[in-house]
Amino acid sequence: MEVQQFYYDNKIVKNFLYATMFWGIVGMSVGLLLAFMFMFPNLTDGISWLSFGRLRPLHTNAVIFAFIGNAIYAGVYYSTQRLLKARMYSDFLSKFNFWGWQAIIVAAAITLPLGYTSSKEYAELEWPIDLAIAVVWVAFGINLIGTMIKRRQRHLYVAIWFYLATFVTVAVLHIFNSLELPVSALKSYSVYAGVQDALVQWWYGHNAVAFFLTTPFLGLMYYFVPKAANRPIYSYRLSIVHFWSLIFIYIWAGPHHLLYTALPDWAQNLGVAFSIMLLAPSWGGMINGLLTLRGAWDKVRTDPVLKFMVVAITGYGMATFEGPLLSLKNVNAIAHFSDWIIAHVHVGALAWNGFLTFGMIYWLVPKMTKNRLFSTSLANFHFWIGTLGIILYTLPMYVAGFTQALMWKDFNPDGT
Ligand code: HEM
Ligand code: HEM
Repeated sequence: MEVQQFYYDNKIVKNFLYATMFWGIVGMSVGLLLAFMFMFPNLTDGISWLSFGRLRPLHTNAVIFAFIGNAIYAGVYYSTQRLLKARMYSDFLSKFNFWGWQAIIVAAAITLPLGYTSSKEYAELEWPIDLAIAVVWVAFGINLIGTMIKRRQRHLYVAIWFYLATFVTVAVLHIFNSLELPVSALKSYSVYAGVQDALVQWWYGHNAVAFFLTTPFLGLMYYFVPKAANRPIYSYRLSIVHFWSLIFIYIWAGPHHLLYTALPDWAQNLGVAFSIMLLAPSWGGMINGLLTLRGAWDKVRTDPVLKFMVVAITGYGMATFEGPLLSLKNVNAIAHFSDWIIAHVHVGALAWNGFLTFGMIYWLVPKMTKNRLFSTSLANFHFWIGTLGIILYTLPMYVAGFTQALMWKDFNPDGT
């Protein structure tokens, strides 16, 4: 029998990890500045590029595509190589993916404060950057699929299925939502108009949540939670059912962002129905993640990695319980336009995405640098201050959301 020798590419994983930490600090600092602007509205008066309207998309792009995006790549490049027993298909494509993505982020960090925007939420970047995103994303996909083709492990673990669904769906969403007519170097108009534009935009926007903030993270959960707990996943069969039902149902839920609009009623109701159904696969996945820890709860008490992961999965469960409720028309009539939505967003983003990322970083960095963690008590402090922060962030916003809705409903049609 021939003995094969090969090496995993750890350098690319390290680069993505460092980029995750760097952009995490940048993106969340901008979030903090935005929060200060609610208390001191005149904070940056007279400086157009520091105005709220320009910094808000900078925050969302930086945390979603730079912080979370780099975390996805770090986790995917690490776990894919190990799950498929193969080095990435092409070192060139790996480097192209890394440097291309950082260049796109820098382009976003310059153009958004300068006011260049397509005005589509989570797709604000102008057409030359859209093109670059499509090219770099497809390079990532070729690298992923190439690695699958040359793999030494026949069985495809469920995490790989989630990564593949992420690649395919994000490519389709990004390309179709970004179809636009350039009129100058940094200005374009969408090819869609009116309610069709809105529907395509929220088909994209909702599935950015589904296929950028959720499916890759479920793949990471299915890889890193069993690794960190040193236990097999609770149910492999459930993970397969979870995968197919989740990706089938998620793609139809976008219209819940357009309730009470000019979108035809049947389309709004279809979005609501699929949003309600989404509860089942979401909770199936959450339960599968939490039950993987059965028999390892004593470790959760001491290991900061597992603590971060438990709160992450719990946050996922809370956001996906709340989401279907928010989709109901009578509940949406209260929550829409209020701080309730911002609370919902950050339970998902800070707890599910943020904490799973932190857990993964604390698990990976010592491995990648062959060092011990500098300080476990500092990691525990990070965990507690983060958990407390999420609670203090979101709880008052739920109260504020209801108060805002009640105050608005006190107005008569004539404004009295
Ligand atoms: C220190 C952490 C963070 C702070 C202080 C923060 C703060 C903020 C603020 C003040 C807003 C604007 C709210 C408004 O206009 O009423 C916002 C919006 C938003 N943030 Fe954060 N954020 C943080 C972390 C994150 C993370 C990690 C993510 C994603 C992974 C995220 C995703 C978003 C999104 C998607 C919105 C727009 C929500 C909407 O339009 O409904 N944030 N954030
Ligand atoms: C079963 C799963 C989920 C459902 C059915 C759902 C449903 C909803 C609904 C109905 C809204 C309010 C739309 C509006 O009135 O404007 C919303 C907003 C939002 N949700 Fe969720 N949600 C789910 C899970 C999540 C998760 C896990 C995250 C984050 C990781 C998330 C991120 C967001 C964001 C960013 C927005 C704000 C969109 C905007 O800018 O207007 N959602 N969601």
